[in-house]
Amino acid sequence: MKTIDPQDTKTAEVHALLLGAIAPRPIAFASTTDSAGNVNLSPFSFFNVFSAKPPILVFSPARRVRDNTSKHTLENVLETREVVINIANYDIVEQMSLASTEYDRGINEFVKSGLTPEASVLVQPPRVKEAPVAFECKVNDVISLGPEGGAGNLVICEVLLMHVNENVLDLEGKIDPYKLDAVARMGGDYYLRATGDCIFELPKPVRNKGVGIDLLPEFIRNSSLLTGNNLARLGNTEVIPSEAEVEAFKSDPLVKYTLSKYKSDSIGLRQELELLGKKLLEDNQVEQAWKVLLLSDKL
Ligand SMILES: Cc1cc2nc3c(=O)[nH]c(=O)nc-3n(C[C@H](O)[C@H](O)[C@H](O)COP(=O)(O)O)c2cc1C
Repeated sequence: MKTIDPQDTKTAEVHALLLGAIAPRPIAFASTTDSAGNVNLSPFSFFNVFSAKPPILVFSPARRVRDNTSKHTLENVLETREVVINIANYDIVEQMSLASTEYDRGINEFVKSGLTPEASVLVQPPRVKEAPVAFECKVNDVISLGPEGGAGNLVICEVLLMHVNENVLDLEGKIDPYKLDAVARMGGDYYLRATGDCIFELPKPVRNKGVGIDLLPEFIRNSSLLTGNNLARLGNTEVIPSEAEVEAFKSDPLVKYTLSKYKSDSIGLRQELELLGKKLLEDNQVEQAWKVLLLSDKL
């Protein structure tokens, strides 16, 4: 493990390490205007949502490490206290990247990137028509994090109005991650496209109180086949199957077949059942996985 003290390290290096490690980061594609109405559009990956009531988004245009100057977006929000935060997806990722070019003040990156400005309802900056989601916001506060190059400026935005393209909604009206086709920023020039196998479901442990890994049977905790992720899935279970339920599971066709196949090889049988338990866990058949694993210890 390499240990790094940011005080003794060049800002550019600290910056690269932070951006490499805090990844993937969502991207605020921010449209702003100055007090004369000139439009600006730039992406910011120091960005997230921090509150739902009030709905608050925060992004951070940093002072340039190179020459300690500030970004036009920051100057604009300080002047007008308004911003539209557009969400960029894969369809417009290269246009979003082009809009990050350090054009002179007053240059409209909608024009440079070929994206379409659509009039907002409540604020002056236009939104990006091609963006699947856009948030019209007022700026409640701007907090400077320091005077030096690299210092961020937290732009605290309250969402006044949300626009969501119906094409990214599922039948229940929720945003479908596969339809959204979101992109996120990694370190260096790397991006992530949230699509296909990248997306997976992990049920939230909010409704139940799982036993926790510490209370799993010792032979399970010490298994060389089960990973930390496998153990956590087991630890998220509230009620462990009873002995009778485990016994009854011997009649499951696959278990029955495995038991007969390894009739005279108890070590092989135990290993096979553990493997089956692992597979069931990974297929999210947690109750069956428990039964198979508990059975493997009984034989
Ligand atoms: C995907 C992406 C994310 C970025 N995130 C940030 C960021 O969080 N903070 C920042 O200061 N600059 C960030 N940049 C760089 C700015 O977009 C760039 O400096 C831009 O020219 C600023 O424009 P402005 O001066 O018109 O506001 C990012 C660039 C890209 C392509």
